[in-house]
Amino acid sequence: MSQTPKERQRWSSRLGIIMAVAGSAIGLGNFLRFPAKVAANGGGAFMIPYLVSLLLLGIPLMWIEWTLGRYGGGFGHGTAPGIFHNIWRKNRFIKYFGVIGIFGPLVIFIYYTYIESWTLAYSFFALLGKYHNLMDQSSMKSFLSGFQGLEQNQFFNGLGWAYFFFLITFSINGLVIYHGIKGGIERCCQWAMPALFLCAIILFARVLTLGAPNPTHPEWNVNGGLGFVWNPDFTALKSAKVWLEAAGQIFFTLSVGIGVILTYASYLRKNDDVVLSGTTAAAANEFAEVILGGSIILPAAFIFFGPTETQVIAQSGTFNLGFVTMPLVINQMPLSPLMGFCWFFLLFLAGITSSISLAQPAVAFLEDEFNLTRRKAALIFTGVAFILCQPAIFFLKNGVVDELDFWGGTFCLVLFATIEVILFSWVFGMDKAWAEVHHGADMKIPEIYKFIIKYVTPLFLLTILGAWFYQDWIKIIWMENVVPQNKVYILATRFGLLLVFIILAIMVKLAWKRRYKDERAQS
Ligand code: PFF
Repeated sequence: MSQTPKERQRWSSRLGIIMAVAGSAIGLGNFLRFPAKVAANGGGAFMIPYLVSLLLLGIPLMWIEWTLGRYGGGFGHGTAPGIFHNIWRKNRFIKYFGVIGIFGPLVIFIYYTYIESWTLAYSFFALLGKYHNLMDQSSMKSFLSGFQGLEQNQFFNGLGWAYFFFLITFSINGLVIYHGIKGGIERCCQWAMPALFLCAIILFARVLTLGAPNPTHPEWNVNGGLGFVWNPDFTALKSAKVWLEAAGQIFFTLSVGIGVILTYASYLRKNDDVVLSGTTAAAANEFAEVILGGSIILPAAFIFFGPTETQVIAQSGTFNLGFVTMPLVINQMPLSPLMGFCWFFLLFLAGITSSISLAQPAVAFLEDEFNLTRRKAALIFTGVAFILCQPAIFFLKNGVVDELDFWGGTFCLVLFATIEVILFSWVFGMDKAWAEVHHGADMKIPEIYKFIIKYVTPLFLLTILGAWFYQDWIKIIWMENVVPQNKVYILATRFGLLLVFIILAIMVKLAWKRRYKDERAQS
């Protein structure tokens, strides 16, 4: 019942898959989430845990996902249930853990696409000069709140514009997914990635050549801004929260630990390299995050608002730096409509190359396990995802997006990564795994990583999960941080998510039942 490997879609070139994986990794996380995390966690304090997490979690998981994905593709499986099942055939339940690798990306897709649509809307607003004469935080904030439908004000009276741009963004995503790996995803990334880098480099150069506009604070300049990001603060290493956030950011930004790269790598051939390609994609993402993402929003905010206010802005909401502070800074530059367009279109390109990757596991699951054609699978996915997106749009003000981000974009990532690394190094077995990674490899992984992958990465992940349970779980389960009027929405979101998970698990059960029937019929 599964497709034979011969029928599987393929990437057309090595550059194609590297661009696609880099496209998935480089996203809103690099240009919005990363600066917000850095600023909210006191600037340079964040960077040491971040770099340690990159070396001990991010890079190993990148190699693991590429390897397991290519391995699974060899059996006609592009998603975690089939891949996990092939690694641990004796365990009847492991395939259900694999459901997280379809569920997690779907959950992120639901809210990510909506946020992505704001960036498209703001690209147009920038060009049309719609927010051009707003000069202070509070009016720019009400512009954003009006747009998001959080309040009715002089700028917007309802969700009309937001919904319009959501429809456009969703349709573009649907179109790319419909055209498949080579004709859709690869083609989209091949033009979007260079355009994204072009926009980022223009803004990077612009921010680095800003003077010190505030005469009372001449120290609010580019050097000070970069120092804010980079000067380390060793005392922060003692904070568990900073470590959790840094590790979470590494997963989110690299798109690892959730099943997306498994699916992309399943379209590789057995002899294709995974080590050098995976490293290249990770390096491209880190360049985009640390060098470009770290040098645009933060120094710009620092120069205009100083360190204390930058931190306050970042702590008051993930979107404030990107949708409030950055347009204000840009409004004070020459050619501001073009620069504003450059900023928001950069975000849009970064967003779309990521959201299409989030859709692919569900599409691949339908294709591989239910033998559907690519087009049928894409249409079913688009229909279901469209319905699932609605609560994120209409109940944003009730905290639904934050709730989805917690379960999809934080919890599932760490949980799935833990399962994956244990399966890889302990069940598959480190020696077999090491040989599998290096099959067809153009580069050898330093031997020390054998130790890291076997012991350090799993322990690190288990510690994170343990610390989390210990510190936060009671609060999370009882919704202690949720305001009373939102509790019913959060609860409904949780039930909705549980239902989606159960449906996916039932689909896995049905697919396996059919598979055995077919196999028995053949033998
Ligand atoms: N890496 C993307 C970003 O930085 O915005 C987000 C993302 C994409 C997360 C795909 C997870 C994923 F599987």
